[in-house]
Amino acid sequence: MEITVSRKTHFNAAHRLNVPSWSDEKNKAFFGACNNANYHGHNYDLIVSVTGQVDEETGYLIDMKYLKDIVKEEIEDRFDHKNLNLDTDFFKTLNPTAENIAIVIWQLLREKLDQNLKLKVILYETERNFVEYNGN
Ligand code: NI
Repeated sequence: MEITVSRKTHFNAAHRLNVPSWSDEKNKAFFGACNNANYHGHNYDLIVSVTGQVDEETGYLIDMKYLKDIVKEEIEDRFDHKNLNLDTDFFKTLNPTAENIAIVIWQLLREKLDQNLKLKVILYETERNFVEYNGN
């Protein structure tokens, strides 16, 4: 029996989307408000889902306290109230789009989970815009 356990969380962060090799005009036209030179913030919502088999002895798929802790330590503590471009190592050269942030989050959490567990992250950049990544 395959089952999914999810943890929902939230962080606030600033970013700027920009392709350095493009002109200012082209960046502004392509990225719009997200190209603002002085950065801007988003209220990100994150849903982390772990899928696998329930352990027959314990009835657990994963200890939800452990899931809560790794999401806090790996994601919230690292990104909440940060400037993603300036304050983190991940987006010095990688554009901090919702797509790339979701991929980085997936990679950080993947390392903390048993290989038998599947992982999916859904990242909301706004209430209506979200991206999903499962490692494929
Ligand atoms: Ni933005």
